[in-house]
Amino acid sequence: MIHIDPWEKTWVYIVGLLIVVMLGSILYTAFANSIHPPSNVETIDSASLHLSKEFAEDNLGVKTRADGSVTVTMVAARYGFYPQRIEVPANTPIRFRIASLDVVHGLHIPETNLATMVIPGFVSEVNTTIPKPGEYPLFCNEYCGLGHHYMWSRVTVTPDTTTN
Ligand code: CUA
Repeated sequence: MIHIDPWEKTWVYIVGLLIVVMLGSILYTAFANSIHPPSNVETIDSASLHLSKEFAEDNLGVKTRADGSVTVTMVAARYGFYPQRIEVPANTPIRFRIASLDVVHGLHIPETNLATMVIPGFVSEVNTTIPKPGEYPLFCNEYCGLGHHYMWSRVTVTPDTTTN
């Protein structure tokens, strides 16, 4: 029988408990709050976004699809998101499609589960619904240069009228 120091034994239990708590909180947020890494893999030529059909300037913004859900098409570029102001309905499936014109940016709307990296060469696609109407900021949360902290847009979430 090997001897294990009581303190060492205690710390083995504490570390084991920490691992259970951390893995548990990851699983909890994944299943209860549906927080998960975006899984879309789709390439695009970032240098010619303005020439592409989808990310051309006059195609950006919010569109309502036939089933009532909404698609938001955006471009992230140093130092802004375009368009700089969007309006989406609450409690409605929203699909964000966003591409970067230059470097890695991040897209984060506080108080929602929407957060993704925007990597040049790829289209970031995120599906979400925002339950609470109100004004939300949309921040860049990946350091992208000197103007990083000025890089944000406004999101207005309007009360859902389709269910009334
Ligand atoms: Cu874009 Cu930080």
